[in-house]
This record gives sequence, structure tokens and C-alpha cells, in this order.
Amino acid sequence: METKLKLGVLGSGSGSNMQAIMDAIESGELNAEIVLVMSDFPDAYILERARKAGLRAEVIDCAGYKTKFPDESQAAVAQALKSAEVDIVCLAGFMRLVKQPLLDIFPNRIINIHPSVLPAYPGLMAWKQAVDDGASESGCTVHYVDAGMDTGPIIMQAKVPVLSADTAETLHQRIQLEEHRIYPAAIKQIATKL
Ligand code: GRF
Repeated sequence: METKLKLGVLGSGSGSNMQAIMDAIESGELNAEIVLVMSDFPDAYILERARKAGLRAEVIDCAGYKTKFPDESQAAVAQALKSAEVDIVCLAGFMRLVKQPLLDIFPNRIINIHPSVLPAYPGLMAWKQAVDDGASESGCTVHYVDAGMDTGPIIMQAKVPVLSADTAETLHQRIQLEEHRIYPAAIKQIATKL
């Protein structure tokens, strides 16, 4: 794709991966623009980060549910992303399971960053799972999102050694350095196939 890629970002946390994407755009490494940022938490730093950068940032109304992503909310998000003419939806620390109609409306166009070398350690706090398991290495994966939990086709992965002194937190910090490297690179890679 030679024209500028339009990205939508969904996140629930600090948005450091979105920052890495913004930095790659700023440096000219990635020919893209972030046209819409959405979060299920009104206080998530990803929204503040987006607004500070002058990006459009909106809260997703999940009807009071703490973890569920209700059908109506998914439909509203799909509509917002569609109206913003988003080409690729990037999940960046988004904590709810994406399903229909979002998956149908953006087939093979929703991607996620996960903090393990999938298929190892899917699900929550994958860095802690790796430390608790005594793994000698872990890492991160960018993958397409399907209806499963961290099961979609893999786009790019990076490995990170688990050190004997590692806690879950220190491992996560080092994994995040690799996340910030491979997420923009994976977007660039899939953009060539659109
Ligand atoms: C990352 O570790 C990502 O792999 C996981 O959630 C975390 C989000 O971090 N899915 P951030 O909000 O991008 O800083």
C-alpha cells in the first residue's frame, strides 16, 4: 500500500506501544497516521497520550461491564472505526475480547501485540506465566486477531531471555522494549500486502 495507512488503536493501559507506533510515524519509518484512538477506560493514559499528541481519542461505552465487551459496544466501535476509514485496527494492550461484528467488518485487518512467543503463554500476564513456569526465554508476538484468545496467525515475533534475577516486572520491561520495536515493523510488513 503506497498511500498513507490509516490506523485505529484500541487500548486499555498506558499506550507505550501506541507511542512506539507514533514515533515510527514521526521518524518516517512508517507511512501511516493514527486516525482514532479508543479505550474502554476513561482514565487510561493511552487517551491522554493521544490527546496530548493531537489525536482523536474516544471512550468506549461498555455499559458498566468490567471485562465483557458487549455486542452493542463492539458494533459502536466498528462503526466509529469504519467512519474514520481505518485500514488496520491495532490492539495495544486492549483488555477485552474482540468478536463479531468487529471481526467481520475488518477481516484480517485487526492485529494485536502479545507479551509472549505464542503459542506459549496466551492470556493474561504472560510475562508472569513465563517466570512462574521457569522458562529460559519468552518474548512477544504480533498476530492477526481471530475469535480465539491470542490464537490468530502470527505476523512477527521476538525472543527475550529470562534472566535468573528476573521478576515478572523486570521481564515485562525487557519484553516491552522488543514490543516497541516489532509492532511498528509488523504494521509496515502487513501494509505492503494490503
Ligand atoms: C503490552 O505488554 C502488550 O503486550 C499487552 O499489554 C501491554 C500493553 O502495554 N497486550 P502498553 O499499554 O502498550 O504500554
